[in-house]
Amino acid sequence: MAHPSAAQMWQWTLGLPEQLAYRAKGLDKLELSDAPPRRILVAGMGGSGVSGRFLAALANSTTVQIVPWNWAGAPSWLTPADAVLATSYSGNTAETLATVNDALAAGIPVTGITTGGKLEQLLRERERPVLSVPGGLPPRAAFGFLLGTGLRVCARLSGVELWQPERTVAALTQLRSNLGSSQFTPISVITKSLIERPITVYGTCPLTAAAALRLKQQLNENAKQFAWSATLPELAHNEITAAGPGRPPSRLCLTLAQEPPPLDSVLDDGEQTIYLRGSGPSPLAAVLGLVFQGDLVSLALAEARGVEPYPIERITAYKARLG
Ligand code: F6R
Repeated sequence: MAHPSAAQMWQWTLGLPEQLAYRAKGLDKLELSDAPPRRILVAGMGGSGVSGRFLAALANSTTVQIVPWNWAGAPSWLTPADAVLATSYSGNTAETLATVNDALAAGIPVTGITTGGKLEQLLRERERPVLSVPGGLPPRAAFGFLLGTGLRVCARLSGVELWQPERTVAALTQLRSNLGSSQFTPISVITKSLIERPITVYGTCPLTAAAALRLKQQLNENAKQFAWSATLPELAHNEITAAGPGRPPSRLCLTLAQEPPPLDSVLDDGEQTIYLRGSGPSPLAAVLGLVFQGDLVSLALAEARGVEPYPIERITAYKARLG
């Protein structure tokens, strides 16, 4: 059977603003407990799990603690005073299901975001809430549905608003129509500097670190390109010692700062970093602008490398092995 085309992947990816605007049914019915959870553990893997990084980064400037969790099984410190938000687009990811099973066995309230699968079945059997997002996309191309729903669920559970949906959607819609203008580094220019070299994507704060991880994943899955993510200042305490002559990876740095962070001077190896600076009416809108551009770069890189962005046979085979 033919898989979805690259053009379809572009179309889904360009739908980020509309995805973020999506309101899952049942949100208003999510029960609010008298005491908000002490912590929210956001469990998920890959394209689903990365939304937890954004939620945790945003929560850093509130009184809510959100912990992203990309492991199989729940941590022993989780208690019934906490909550789990399980995000799995397919609903069949073994690691996420293992965390949910542990949490349910320990009496911890679990809420799910999914298109169905075993996750939906398990939570319905236990009379736990499930927020459904539209199906038929690869999970990584449904990022806006997953993050937007995660933001709304966390606000509902904690009573603390983490974003302004309308403003964010409006800013991204505007960005989409301006992407070709001179205010942005053209996607083709960024892509050209990344061809056939491993790539490190740097973040310089918790929000851009989440975006750096997202771009690393997109470069891996869409462009089938080796990529890693790292953060400044942490890299100044380790990676810096490995920098030097040779053939270092291409460097992309995502930032919200007005001035470019001093990455080139810290690494001091003569290589040049491409800086992408996000701007917008809020830090989240700015960072999602970076995610949007990064997603398009990953598709453009796939095209430049002559690979199909949709298939991820190795992930499918890994999941089949896990059962
Ligand atoms: C595929 C993708 C993967 C999946 C991951 C977990 O497009 O992005 O990283 O997200 O394998 O699967 P789900 O999201 O179904 O829990």
